[in-house]
Amino acid sequence: MRTRTADVLVVGGGIIGLVTAWRAAQRGLATVVADPSPGGGAAHVAAGMLAAVTELQYGEQTLLDLNLASAARYPDFVEELTAATGLDSGYRPCGTLAVALDADDRADLRDLHAFQSSLGLDAQWLSGRDCRRLEPLLAPGVRGGLRVDGDHQVDPRRLAAALLRAARSAGADFVRAKAARITCAGDRVTGAELGDGTRVVAARTVLAAGCESGRLPGLPEDALPPVRPVKGQILRLRVPAERAPFLSRTVRAVVRGSHVYLVPRENGELVLGATSEEFGWDTAVTAGGVYELLRDAHELVPGITELPLTETLAGLRPGSPDNAPLLGPSPLEGLLLATGHHRNGVLLTPITGDVLGHVLDSGELPDYARPFAAGRFAGAARREQTV
Ligand code: GLY
Repeated sequence: MRTRTADVLVVGGGIIGLVTAWRAAQRGLATVVADPSPGGGAAHVAAGMLAAVTELQYGEQTLLDLNLASAARYPDFVEELTAATGLDSGYRPCGTLAVALDADDRADLRDLHAFQSSLGLDAQWLSGRDCRRLEPLLAPGVRGGLRVDGDHQVDPRRLAAALLRAARSAGADFVRAKAARITCAGDRVTGAELGDGTRVVAARTVLAAGCESGRLPGLPEDALPPVRPVKGQILRLRVPAERAPFLSRTVRAVVRGSHVYLVPRENGELVLGATSEEFGWDTAVTAGGVYELLRDAHELVPGITELPLTETLAGLRPGSPDNAPLLGPSPLEGLLLATGHHRNGVLLTPITGDVLGHVLDSGELPDYARPFAAGRFAGAARREQTV
């Protein structure tokens, strides 16, 4: 077994692991990232909506603050990334239109608007006709909508490519292998043994392996982060040049209780997502998933069925018990977490980098991240077992 030493071992090279590695390497810390295909993970599937306002959920106001703070960081973040790498992340400040297709949807969207307004969020109610004036390809039956000019998009694949280059240029080393086992000495995490036979001995180990973080061998059962896989199926279509611009902003709705969204890229890609399924680790694209997405999107924008379908894919979001991320020091010495981002991984990438950078500097979470402390569920499993 080959042994390497590092100040920081990052387990997982998706966008959360990459931003962590970038921030660590920028600090002069010897950083190793373990991942068989860095730059992949859930972000390879994701649409890249930065939807702090339109994806607001009741009871998630604390998460909203973190989401808004990360959305506000995006312009400077992508500028810094481009300056470091010469790569464009596809950040597009295009805004979002959330629409209602029937009277019930309209009532729900009105409630959401009242909730957003009570929190001081910027969202403007539009009639169906005004929605169609903004987006002429919307279905004639659209009953009204919310214009949210602050919910933008980024291209997660380009973001991942830029973060990979940034982390490398800052000095992070990559081992193309999975973490086979996290290693511990007493109550202290000491690194990991990787699938290619490398042993990495690290002062600090960051679990950033999405939902896989919850089942990594080697950690005591009650130290595993409580993250679960939440499957999302997603489609990519292509808008031929003669049909452009098909949509000028992200368009979304809740149809029969399911979220459907259309995210138009400047290069003609149109991303159509996404299912949300809690059936374990399966990543099969199903006929039912594709059918439901196309059916719901067709109700929203009938013209989509004429577009070439170029890709179908499924990924796993890392859901936590409160659907908010687990960040920073865990109860085990030497172990940090950066996982559990659920529907907000792309949105929360800039602020996750800042939080983990702060933790690497000081050993502590910044005040604004304290509600997302990695240890907030520690002991819950043990308590449940003893009841
Ligand atoms: N945030 C979009 C999704 O998770 O589907």
